[in-house]
Amino acid sequence: MTLKAGVVGWPIAQSKSPRIHGYWIKQHRLDATYEPIALSEDEFETGIRDLISEGFKGLNVTIPHKEAAFRLADKLSDRAQAIGAVNTLVFREDHIFGDNTDGIGFSANIKAKYPSWKGGNAPAAVFGAGGAARGIVWALLEIGYNEVRVFNRTVSRSIELASSFGDRVHAISGSLDEICKDADFFVNTTSVGMNGKGSIDVDLMHLKPDAIVSDIVYSPLETDLLRRARLSNFRTVDGLGMLLHQAVPGFEAWFDTKPVVTDELRQLVLS
Ligand code: ATR
Repeated sequence: MTLKAGVVGWPIAQSKSPRIHGYWIKQHRLDATYEPIALSEDEFETGIRDLISEGFKGLNVTIPHKEAAFRLADKLSDRAQAIGAVNTLVFREDHIFGDNTDGIGFSANIKAKYPSWKGGNAPAAVFGAGGAARGIVWALLEIGYNEVRVFNRTVSRSIELASSFGDRVHAISGSLDEICKDADFFVNTTSVGMNGKGSIDVDLMHLKPDAIVSDIVYSPLETDLLRRARLSNFRTVDGLGMLLHQAVPGFEAWFDTKPVVTDELRQLVLS
């Protein structure tokens, strides 16, 4: 029987997930499908129940449904619980399992380029306090950072994020320059810089000289932030890999096959 999975969102046409999973299905010659499914917020829950009845193995969940998926799941992974959102659903015999793979996708991407990366030597600096930031803060704590500083345009959101992660996470209301002081990691989790629009008002020279600068924006692949970081001789990691690596656990759970992120897949998603 053909194994079925997909991605639900609203809208969904822009999603790169079908391309990623389609590549792996073909590569492993699986009898499986992965389709984009548009569900509005009103239809989310009934839509999911219908897909379960149709025999779907599970789904990826994207904007705007990650919180609704969190509420819908009967069981949650520890990381989904900590992040407060679900991007991967697995339909098991007697329950719906909710996971969040954004954080491990983020760290797998950094480690793919810099395998010895670990936290604990200096603070990490995070710009933004939305859903993506929550996954990344979780990952930075997991990798061992003792201090994660968060700056957001709307300060109340960074305060709320910090308070939900405990005393290793600090909301800083001053400026981006302030969170960068002597940090060895800086990540943009906002949409600033997407499609070449906007520039992040930060002086990267406050970072430690061996710092890694990363961006979740992958269009363009080299954002203004990453270009500036490269020209100042920082180590850089683009955002495309996070998108690819976050897809691995879902594929493995639904299709019982562990896929690998390859350069060919990167090129395919970029094309
Ligand atoms: P996501 O799930 O992708 O993180 P989100 O929850 O809507 O999306 O969060 C978007 C993040 O980008 C927020 O941190 C947001 O800042 P606010 O909380 O102040 O809205 C940030 N963001 C978006 N556009 C921005 C801009 N032009 N300047 C600064 N921050 C911006």
